[in-house]
Formats: sequence, structure tokens, C-alpha cells
Amino acid sequence: MDRRAFMTYMGLGLLADCLPMAIAASAAPKLKVAKARSDGFVAVGTVNELQTKGVIKAPQFPGKPLLIIRDPQNKSKVIAVSSTCTHKGCEVDWRAKNSQFACPCHGAKFNPNGTVVKGPATRPLTSFKAKIEGNLVLVKSN
Ligand code: FES
Repeated sequence: MDRRAFMTYMGLGLLADCLPMAIAASAAPKLKVAKARSDGFVAVGTVNELQTKGVIKAPQFPGKPLLIIRDPQNKSKVIAVSSTCTHKGCEVDWRAKNSQFACPCHGAKFNPNGTVVKGPATRPLTSFKAKIEGNLVLVKSN
């Protein structure tokens, strides 16, 4: 085998090895990256989604993962808070039954507006401006 034939053979081998990975990578679902509108609001989901699930999780929100819920005191409004616990950074969950955000790691609990109900967390969850426009749930990136 001469040098040219060897290089061609190796090139085809490399192509055969890499092509399936390249095809798989291009066909894989892309993580939705939310973009802010000119007024700073980002569409994080729909009213239908909020109605169905009771909470919208927005892990792709710029900067922080968020949880968005209906305001238990005023169902026409929405509340958006960071889902990152202020104690040691675990992800809090929304507990609709108790109208609280709860941290699974050390048991901290937070009101719907993010204020602490029960420690060990001492600082509130970061809250964000949120609103409904048509069927969209929007959160303002800070
Ligand atoms: Fe949430 Fe400790 S990380 S209570």
C-alpha cells in the first residue's frame, strides 16, 4: 500500500467513525434558550401549561432557573421566583397543597412570594416581575 492509498484509507475510516456522532449531535433536541424581548420580558411558558401543571419550570431562564406559579391570593396574577434555595443551593419544589416552596435538602420552606417560612434558609428566594399576556407567561430578566 502506497502512502496516498494509506492516507485515503485512514481518512475514510475517520469519516466513518465521526459521521454517526455528527448526525446524532445535529439531530438531538436543542435546549430552548429563552431570549428577552425589547422590554426585558422573556416568555417562559403558556397559561395552558401553567393551568395543566400548576407550575412552570424555567431552567433556561437567563441567569437563574425559575419556578412560576399562579398567585394563590390573586389567581389572575403570576409569581416567579428563583428555584435555587438560599441555604445551600438545592432546587426547591412548589407544593400547591400547602401553597409553599419546599427544599428537599434540609427542609426550608418559603411563601409563594419567596419569603422564608421555615429555616435553615434565612434569605428569601429571589423574585422576578412576572405577568400574563394573552396565552404567554412572561418574566422580566433582571
Ligand atoms: Fe435548601 Fe438547605 S439547601 S434547606
